[in-house]
Amino acid sequence: MARIAIVGVGAIGGAIAGLLEMTERHEVTLCTRRPMQQLTVTMPSGSVRVKARNVTAPAEVEPADWVIVATKAYDAEGAARWFPRLCAQGAQVAVVQNGVEHRERFAPYVEQARLLPVIIDCPVERSPDGEVRVRGAARMRVEDTPLGCDFAALFAGSPANAEPVADFVSAAWWKLCLNSVGALNALTLKPAGVLREEEMGRLALAMVAECVAVGRAEGAKLNDSLGEEILAQYRAQPPDAVNSLLADRLAGRRMEIDARNGVIVRRGQKRGIPTPLNRMAFTLLEAQQP
Ligand SMILES: NC(=O)c1ccc[n+]([C@@H]2O[C@H](COP(=O)([O-])OP(=O)(O)OC[C@H]3O[C@@H](n4cnc5c(N)ncnc54)[C@H](OP(=O)(O)O)[C@@H]3O)[C@@H](O)[C@H]2O)c1
Repeated sequence: MARIAIVGVGAIGGAIAGLLEMTERHEVTLCTRRPMQQLTVTMPSGSVRVKARNVTAPAEVEPADWVIVATKAYDAEGAARWFPRLCAQGAQVAVVQNGVEHRERFAPYVEQARLLPVIIDCPVERSPDGEVRVRGAARMRVEDTPLGCDFAALFAGSPANAEPVADFVSAAWWKLCLNSVGALNALTLKPAGVLREEEMGRLALAMVAECVAVGRAEGAKLNDSLGEEILAQYRAQPPDAVNSLLADRLAGRRMEIDARNGVIVRRGQKRGIPTPLNRMAFTLLEAQQP
């Protein structure tokens, strides 16, 4: 049994709460900004009602063994307001977010030795009535360290595939390459089908090539064929599939564009690698932020 606090219970935080509920082993606290009436998580294997305690103010929480942060990347500062009490007995902090800057984002708030970046692949949405719908397998990848193995063990007995990997840097950059292309959907306001157009495909390949060049300079091992693999993945999606950048733009919400494309530009600039397409996508979408 572990005392686990989930900070940010949207789509991913909700899915994680459902997976932990299925282990029937942990004492889970849901840390949210507004009260949650209920949380039901529907997975391909069935539905689960989460019986965790819900807390809405950092002053009300008890110390935890693990804090799992599942806010959007731009909400790091707000998420960290929960840490002083949650981490009072030395909790480990797992950051389940997109991008490659989990450590940098939380460096001001928690020591590196207690921080665990997590990459998650899990198609999931949360509806306003509190239902979280997981549409496919949940796969999490972490560094192959004692901390990473402890985190993976929390999910034993659930359908999640939580896997320590020897080369986490490559896994994170692989996912960033995939995510970089999502900006094209947010820019065109069109779902996945738009990537089936030939010229759009060419743009996607060129955006991934920039990300591959920067990722390799940062130590990631990325195949020459990665762009084609990623384009094939987008083209295999239902044409009306909507990624989170597009969903956020359509809903007038803030987009995670800095963590997905801005980082490619910043890291590229630092290493003298030009990233004109990611720069353009970042600049145009940043200008659309509410
Ligand atoms: N959804 C997916 O399929 C998916 C897949 C892979 C990776 N990811 C990544 O996972 C991360 C989370 O994404 P998501 O889709 O779950 O986002 P989301 O649905 O927007 O959920 C984020 C939640 O964090 C909450 N939050 C923000 N600041 C908070 C604070 N200070 N205290 C407590 N709660 C706070 C928000 O609360 P409010 O409701 O009050 O705004 C919201 O419920 C992102 O980095 C995303 O890129 C998502």
